[in-house]
Amino acid sequence: MLSRNEYVRLSLEINLFFQRIMKEHLFFIETSLPPAAANLMLDARRLKESFEELLHETVFYANGVISNETIKAEEIVTPYTLQAEEITARLTGAMINTAITESELALTGNDGEDNSCLFEVVNSINERAINLVSSTIALKREIIRDQRICDLFIFLYPLLMEHITREAVYFLETLEALQESRLPRRSLCDELNFWNTIMGEHAEFIDGLLDPTEKALKETAAKLADKFEQLVEGCKNTSEKRIVEESTKTTKQVQEYKTAATNGLIQCQIRSIIVPLLGDHVLREANHFLRILMMLSC
Ligand SMILES: [Fe+2]
Ligand SMILES: [Fe+2]
Repeated sequence: MLSRNEYVRLSLEINLFFQRIMKEHLFFIETSLPPAAANLMLDARRLKESFEELLHETVFYANGVISNETIKAEEIVTPYTLQAEEITARLTGAMINTAITESELALTGNDGEDNSCLFEVVNSINERAINLVSSTIALKREIIRDQRICDLFIFLYPLLMEHITREAVYFLETLEALQESRLPRRSLCDELNFWNTIMGEHAEFIDGLLDPTEKALKETAAKLADKFEQLVEGCKNTSEKRIVEESTKTTKQVQEYKTAATNGLIQCQIRSIIVPLLGDHVLREANHFLRILMMLSC
């Protein structure tokens, strides 16, 4: 059972990370649909805007409440996020509220204060996040269904659609647990395999979205994907200490790779069909996983 103070801090931290992830998924959907799917594009845009509103409010209440470790992890915002957003908005013509990013860059951590008094307001943020993420899951599943029967075309791989749906379900399960004042019930291998699969798939997506001439970058991505696949396969037969260590090692490698890729995309030094915000998005997911791994190794 979480104390009210823990509930407030953990809820705000998880919302800051995942609400941004959700609104970016919706942005990627919005900008990857062709004119024939104008209705779905509008649905994605509306949901993205609702998440932006909620995220702006969440950032306001999170200031001075979340842990310094969460801020330092660069999972909420990285030094590249703002620039990646500005370039991506200009290139796609779709809106991104960068005022949120600026408030996030100014966030400060908790210095030991008790914030139980925010219980009601955080409870309301969690409830609204549950509603929005449920609608987001429904939209993603609709796209997956229509894409499978070739009734819809979208410039996103079917596996990428499934991947972002899994991330949304993970967020929803976490919120539902928090609303029962507890943490989600996941075994070590459940948790590690979820994120190691996510990391491996990022490497596969990057491999598939790089220009065929980017041979060195593609080769590194393919090798990283293999390593994550092995970690998932080996989890059950490896000691807890060792699997956490190896996951950390490989995730640090992918973090370094994604940092270089995001920077390269911003500087226009990489031939690809990847927008800079997608680079920054997958970098933040690696940063978040590394913070989970740090907590698991204690
Ligand atoms: Fe994601
Ligand atoms: Fe992801």
